[in-house]
Amino acid sequence: KKSEAWSALFSEPMSELVKRYTASVFFDQRLWQADITGSLAHADMLAAQKIIGADDLAAIQKGMAQIRAEIEGGQFEWQLDLEDVHLNIEARLTQLVGDAGKRLHTGRSRNDQVATDVRLWLRGEIDLITGLLSDLQKALLSVAEQNVDTILPGFTHLQVAQPVSFAHHLLAYVEMFARDAERMADVRKRVNRLPLGSAALAGTTYPLDRERVAKTLGMVDEQGQACICQNSLDAVSDRDFAIEFSAAASLVMVHVSRLSEELILWMSQNFGFIKIADRFTTGSSIMPQKKNPDVPELARGKTGRVVGHLMGLITLMKGQPLAYNKDNQEDKEPLFDTVDTLKDTLRIFSEMVGGQVNPATGKLEGGITVNAPAMEQAALKGYATATDLADYLVKKGLPFRDAHETVAHAVKAAVSHSCDLSELPLTVLLQFNKSIEKDVYEVLSLRGSLNARNTVGGTAPAQVRQQIARHRARLAS
Ligand code: ARG
Repeated sequence: KKSEAWSALFSEPMSELVKRYTASVFFDQRLWQADITGSLAHADMLAAQKIIGADDLAAIQKGMAQIRAEIEGGQFEWQLDLEDVHLNIEARLTQLVGDAGKRLHTGRSRNDQVATDVRLWLRGEIDLITGLLSDLQKALLSVAEQNVDTILPGFTHLQVAQPVSFAHHLLAYVEMFARDAERMADVRKRVNRLPLGSAALAGTTYPLDRERVAKTLGMVDEQGQACICQNSLDAVSDRDFAIEFSAAASLVMVHVSRLSEELILWMSQNFGFIKIADRFTTGSSIMPQKKNPDVPELARGKTGRVVGHLMGLITLMKGQPLAYNKDNQEDKEPLFDTVDTLKDTLRIFSEMVGGQVNPATGKLEGGITVNAPAMEQAALKGYATATDLADYLVKKGLPFRDAHETVAHAVKAAVSHSCDLSELPLTVLLQFNKSIEKDVYEVLSLRGSLNARNTVGGTAPAQVRQQIARHRARLAS
């Protein structure tokens, strides 16, 4: 029946293989709500502009309500023959309400229809993702709040560098996810623009009120002004908004992946810094002792998949002449999978990091368990306060480069004694520089080192507390 849907022009029906190859209904049906919403806004405007009658509008609304119920109830019969979500819904509408259904497509093309649907759908998903990003930030904050004074060896090159507050380390991820949320908000502005009214590519001969449709669909800026795509050729053909979203999503996953890598390291026996709840781990079929960090490992793996989708989408766009081409139908599966992967990953990470609220106590339970003594013990290895000794000597008047060299000798001595710098007796330290006094031991302590880094963005507990408060306030507003 499909070939007849076009016109009498076709002399033979479409082959079964081509039908299957070109159809998108089995994946684009998830746009059904956006499709109905968009159609209703279009119909409302057509009636207001007297392009269709008030009775037609009423019939369309009634038919769409039934279709909505059928889809929600799982009774709607999606047909491959009808190619995509748009034609399936329109055909059913016409079946239900007759000519009014046939009038719906006046002044519209599937080209501006699909671009509108994808934008409406993605806008809703961006809002969900933004909420999930806040949840994850809050989960990280809840662990940070408990660990301002927990000392972690900070690494560069994965070699012990300087001690940091564990909370400070977690707040680094809060910063990343906060920027991700900013990026999502920025992408949303460009997603939230109306293609409808562009028709196939050149605009339409009907006196459409695009502003009305935009406002009905909530495609407005902060001042409430309608956001309308201003060039019909561009509106139906570009998918840069989807590419931008994928780029923002890829960065979220890259951040999750870095966190995953750290969680995996921290929970390995060789670190033993944290535990994650058993429900996020799996055992081994051969080694009875194992608890493997499958969730963070999979998240790290799924990052590749999301970044791959970004490559797919951007490559999809690059060779397309204006205006619409069927290539664009290939935007959906990568976009859908990106959204699904991102949402699941964020949900699972919020719970794995922060735990779940126990309804009985109202308290968060089952988040990561921190082994503060193990972290601190690890920070004591590796001469993490060597820079502090150099800074101490600078304050005594030594040029920094000389202080650096002096401390290198002190570290060498400590290595040969198999002890920490703070365990070298004053008599030994004095051999390296005569101005060293007893107060050096405070400087060489992990807590002294932390407290000394008391500038904005530094790891001193006082700074970290301020940052936590700032993030809490930001996330509450
Ligand atoms: N399913 C199509 C897509 O996703 C809808 C637009 C089809 N337009 C067309 N002229 N064939 O892009």
